[in-house]
Amino acid sequence: MTRLLIVDDDTALLEALPRALELRMDGVQIETSDNAADALERIEQTDYDAVVTDIKMPGMDGLAVLREIKRLRPTTPTLLITGHGEHDLAVQALRGGAYDFVQKPIDRDYFVASLERAFELRRLERQVEAQRLALERHARVLEHVGDGIFVVDGDGLVQHWNPAARAATGMSHDDVLGRPVTEVLPGWQQAGPLVPVATMPGPDGLPPGTLPFEPGGREIWLSISGVAFPDGVVYAFRNVTEERALDELKGEFVATISHELRTPLAAIYGSAQTLRRDDLELDEETSGRLLEVITTESERLTRIASEILLANSLDSGRLVLDSREVDVYALVGEVVEEMRAIFADRDGLRIDLPSANGQPAVVADPDRLRQVLINLIDNAVKYSPEGGRVAVEIEPLPHSVRVAIRDEGIGIPRGEQQRIFGKFYRVDPQLSRGVGGTGLGLYICRELVRRMQGRVWVASTEGEGSTFYVDLPLAESPVPASLV
Ligand SMILES: Nc1ncnc2c1ncn2[C@@H]1O[C@H](COP(=O)(O)OP(=O)(O)OP(=O)(O)O)[C@@H](O)[C@H]1O
Ligand SMILES: [Mg+2]
Repeated sequence: MTRLLIVDDDTALLEALPRALELRMDGVQIETSDNAADALERIEQTDYDAVVTDIKMPGMDGLAVLREIKRLRPTTPTLLITGHGEHDLAVQALRGGAYDFVQKPIDRDYFVASLERAFELRRLERQVEAQRLALERHARVLEHVGDGIFVVDGDGLVQHWNPAARAATGMSHDDVLGRPVTEVLPGWQQAGPLVPVATMPGPDGLPPGTLPFEPGGREIWLSISGVAFPDGVVYAFRNVTEERALDELKGEFVATISHELRTPLAAIYGSAQTLRRDDLELDEETSGRLLEVITTESERLTRIASEILLANSLDSGRLVLDSREVDVYALVGEVVEEMRAIFADRDGLRIDLPSANGQPAVVADPDRLRQVLINLIDNAVKYSPEGGRVAVEIEPLPHSVRVAIRDEGIGIPRGEQQRIFGKFYRVDPQLSRGVGGTGLGLYICRELVRRMQGRVWVASTEGEGSTFYVDLPLAESPVPASLV
């Protein structure tokens, strides 16, 4: 139903005009009003398809009414009725945004034709608005999808790029729109044809492929699939680079661990077999040495197993640390003594410790701190294949105590100095000269020290040596009773 409002103070016209229109137009519901205030109130309440108003009315003139209508309903076409010869007013009305004007006496044919055009315009505008809203809604939906979504048209140009796509790739909508997909996603030339593209969306669509791309020069792995439509293909993807890296890490971990387990197991097995042989007369010293191998290698196995367990409970947040005052100097001294004993057979190795000079206490978990120091000294010795000096230093700072473990070993390439604290991360074994390990030691150190509100980091020069630093917070002076 099309709704029209006619406003005029001439009541005779208000009766005659609707009747004349009803005869000539179908499906138009006409309301009338004889004053401006009432008309504006109705317009505010009802979204008419057109308004016809006299330009000269008592109280408020037509131009003012027009301004109000434009304010209330900017898209409602408004026709003005002008007196004969009032051309200036008519022009002003058109300037003021009137859709058209009709002169008195009203030429009904012209009036009907103009109204019909106005209704048609309004109808089209409403359609456009509805479509715009629908589009906006669709676009909004895409904006909120967690998967990256982009559209590639028939010419291979990117035509849509949602915020998730930006988040996953770092490239914004403006960077990529209208550009060839091969440029936007380097690697597309090879990987693009491998992306599964379904002809119909739906649950029996193809499973996504996991493929590498190189936007902005860095490699990312996308789990990606597409659905074709007449104008192109809609692609949906997730960035699975991290999951893949983790998978790779797991693979490496299994390889490292199997290797790390096999070495001590072989030694234990070999020693035990030798001890069992009847055909061999083993003197006491030899059997002592074989038993020693079994003990140390079993200890090594236990250490590996407990490192894996510890890393696991650190990951899941299950580990609860003790927090109490610890005399660092005494604790470092004990650890250094133990490590000297363990590495007593290493030629040319010295583990130095500074003399005590009233070091303040720190807050820490003593057992875990011991473990951190053991790991760091173990590394310092392990990665000093030619022997050399390992020095432990303790330095009091205003709010913390710094323990430094300095070695003269193989050092760590600059690019690796952050990564070695990662889980399972080991520098290329070629560089570490085949020294074994699980790559968990430093990860555990970092996580433990972090939980003690401390910090651990490294300074190193390849070929010259490394220094690992551990900062631990000072034990706070007791809170004065007045503040408790
Ligand atoms: N003092 C050091 N000098 C040179 N390289 C080091 C040193 N400490 C650590 N690294 C490097 O960092 C890597 C990670 O050390 P981390 O202690 O985490 O593992 P790991 O020693 O290989 O195994 P483990 O879990 O048995 O300690 C080592 O593989 C080694 O390449
Ligand atoms: Mg280690």
